[in-house]
Amino acid sequence: MEKVVLKVNGRSRQFIVEPDRVLLDLLREDLGLTGTKQSCDRKGQCGACTVIVNGKAVRSCVQKVKNLANAEVITIEGLGTPENPHLIQEAYCLSGAIQCGFCTPGMIMATKALLDRNPNPDDGEIKKALEHNLCRCTGYARIIDAVKLASRFIRGETTPAAIRPDPHGPKIGVSHPRPSAMIKACGMAEFGADIHLQDPLEAAVTRSAEHHARVKSVDTSAAEKMPGVVGVMTSKDIKGTNRIKIMVGDQPILAENKVQCLGDAIAIVVARTKKEALDAAAKVKVEYEPLPVLRSPQEALADGAVQIHADLPNLCFSQPQIKGDAAKAFAQSSAVVEADFSTQCNHQAPLEPEVTVAYMEGEGEDAQLVVVGRSIEIHLHMSNLQEALGYENVRYEEPYSGGQFGQKAAMNTEAIAAAAALHFGRAIRYIPSLEESLLVSTKRHPFYLKTRLGADKNGKLTAVDIDYIVDNGAYMVIGGYVVMRSLWMLSGSYNIPNVNVLARLVYTNNPAGGAARGAGPPQVTFALESAMDMLAEKIGMDPLEFRRINSLLPGQSVSTGHVYDEWPFPELCDSIRPNYERAKKEVAASKSGTIKRGVGIGTHAFGIGGPGDEGRVFVELDPDGGMTIFCAVADPGEGNDSMLTQIGSHVSGIPMEKIRLVTRDTDRTPGMGPAAASRMTYMAGGSLILAIEEMKKATKEAGATSYEELKKAGKPTRFMGSKKTEKEGPLDPKTGQGPSFESRIHAIQMAEVEVNTETGEVRVIRVTTAVDPGKVLNPNNVVGQLHGGMDQGVGYALREEYIHGKTKDWNTFKFPTMKTAFDMDVIINETPRKRGPLGAVGIGEMTMVCTAPAVINAIYDACGARVYHLPATPEKIKAALAQKK
Ligand code: FES
Ligand code: FES
Repeated sequence: MEKVVLKVNGRSRQFIVEPDRVLLDLLREDLGLTGTKQSCDRKGQCGACTVIVNGKAVRSCVQKVKNLANAEVITIEGLGTPENPHLIQEAYCLSGAIQCGFCTPGMIMATKALLDRNPNPDDGEIKKALEHNLCRCTGYARIIDAVKLASRFIRGETTPAAIRPDPHGPKIGVSHPRPSAMIKACGMAEFGADIHLQDPLEAAVTRSAEHHARVKSVDTSAAEKMPGVVGVMTSKDIKGTNRIKIMVGDQPILAENKVQCLGDAIAIVVARTKKEALDAAAKVKVEYEPLPVLRSPQEALADGAVQIHADLPNLCFSQPQIKGDAAKAFAQSSAVVEADFSTQCNHQAPLEPEVTVAYMEGEGEDAQLVVVGRSIEIHLHMSNLQEALGYENVRYEEPYSGGQFGQKAAMNTEAIAAAAALHFGRAIRYIPSLEESLLVSTKRHPFYLKTRLGADKNGKLTAVDIDYIVDNGAYMVIGGYVVMRSLWMLSGSYNIPNVNVLARLVYTNNPAGGAARGAGPPQVTFALESAMDMLAEKIGMDPLEFRRINSLLPGQSVSTGHVYDEWPFPELCDSIRPNYERAKKEVAASKSGTIKRGVGIGTHAFGIGGPGDEGRVFVELDPDGGMTIFCAVADPGEGNDSMLTQIGSHVSGIPMEKIRLVTRDTDRTPGMGPAAASRMTYMAGGSLILAIEEMKKATKEAGATSYEELKKAGKPTRFMGSKKTEKEGPLDPKTGQGPSFESRIHAIQMAEVEVNTETGEVRVIRVTTAVDPGKVLNPNNVVGQLHGGMDQGVGYALREEYIHGKTKDWNTFKFPTMKTAFDMDVIINETPRKRGPLGAVGIGEMTMVCTAPAVINAIYDACGARVYHLPATPEKIKAALAQKK
């Protein structure tokens, strides 16, 4: 042990520490300063742990405390409080730079160190200063804006008061800061790993080293004798079904006699410390009998392939979609293109890794199992845990959550921590490493799409034929729903009169696919929008004009046969045209040398309000005239808290500061369905309006103007609103015809790129999104979603790929950074939608969907290299160029 004196946030303290103690642990564990976060496995890759030491921004996870004698350390807690925030914290809140907020404390500390030495940095200096700080939500543009605004505050050029929207002014269409922004900016928002549990046990999991094998035996005896170990549990200790079941119950919490995927959980070890738990988990002996490993859906569909799940065929779901007569239409088409496309397995890559804490509240038979995890559908996951563990009295709570992008539609660490808390009757922390979190969480499904698209002599689309296979991975999770989503939105923005599609979902021994921003449409849209460009070229038509003349029109039907009465897509084509013409001119002026410039577009019409969707919200008038909204709405960064607060205040007339939210507790909220599919504004916002209308009706009937008068009139103070979509029912199993989403958000994206034809490297210069999301409730939140989606879309197009067992950290994942950031332009058309709350629809996933084809089409425009298989790595581009020669 060594003694080190440090001044932390102005207070001098002495610490007696082991020589390898790092500053991050000292801050978080010894001092409880949990505003400093950890994302990467202390590899210095994420910057979430950034603090200031002796005036410099440092990553605290790689700083040994013993080397910091007499150092002055400032953490986020030393900067400001919500009551008295630092100007940088104000700037981040007012710029819309905070979404999930997990990166925010580190970003703010890096900003502080920069502005202390240079109060007027340019973009290059900002990017350099923040180059080690990762963000998955914002695409970095608003963070750069925040640094610039902070520098203006600091230089005295303006003030927060001059920038801040009037909270008593209009509520809708105004960028009111998010309700949680300031506590995130001050490091006071508690994420899962920040929750203080008295005397918890740490959990670690023994995971399968095989991709597919029979488990012959599990020997826990050596692990049980390891220091600090309190116990080890296996599937035999679970009293319920032991099944995680989102759609079908094919995934054991702990493996029984077989493993289907590398990383399957086999045993849980709980110990006094995390290190002791991990050491003991490594001592659990598992004897395997290897089985053939099916690494692709093609292998899994081959004759004689081993069946992965005894009671479910490898081809676990199949759905055709037939409209008109595609064969005849192709035969009569003037031009037809065809190609095979594929998309990669990808990770959603939220900055906060998986984490859950669980504990028993109360004693004996009345004890309630409390699970605090990052679910975006707390009621479904709670009922799933009840069944899986055979224990009825369960409460699910959600803390602040560091992004998720669909990942948390699935359960993972929750089941482990909950099973251990129930079995051992102790408070459990299960905080896996990033490496483990990447291994076990769900991924974006890979698609293989054999595609044909035809047009007549006037350039009108005649038919589409896509035969596609989806790699489900080892477990269903929501695979069937992802396929349905891809079919509901298959024809995108266009009127395609004849459709012949077959979608097949196939079990393999690959990682389980799950929800991932867009979930289904990004994969199919990559193929369709690539084919659209190929077809435009073949018939000699400008790609933008080709898309515009093929727009669906009100009264026409999409590929499911669903007829739409509003479709403001042609207007979007017109809105982006000036930018497109400018970009085309710049491309024409720059075609020389080895650096080739290109422009490409992609479009989509993203569905909101699926058939049979439903949600419920309660509102309660409070004695002080305020209103509490009870609604199970996760907000891992989209801005759902803002949406509820602004709609609530606007519709009720109650000031925003008196709108209270109870959103993340199964005991206190009604079910609302998942905070996924971009559905929360539409479904929760819609339900909220209905609930407030009930409240207003009761108040009017009672002639009441206050809570007391309402009570006195014998009226209730709590009201429910429930929005249901107009149509329900699945697609016809033979034809794929039936209802689709009842509203759509429209977008057209334009990517401008430079391709180095020698190295195959691509630099994205700018992405422009023209979008019609209906009525905009909060411009900052809409633009923030668009920016984040574009950034993720470019990563999907060019770099990101999850390789099972090999992608172990943010570097191998190729996480986007300040260095890969590009210019982003946004054009917003606001066409209020008939069925949307206040005319709004939703925005969360849209820009992810058509970014990849826009980038791929731009690469082709630049150099004639067409990439059919994502991601478009330099090697693939060079190979495509070589083929062209
Ligand atoms: S936790 Fe320190 S850089 Fe990631
Ligand atoms: S706001 Fe940066 S990671 Fe979410």
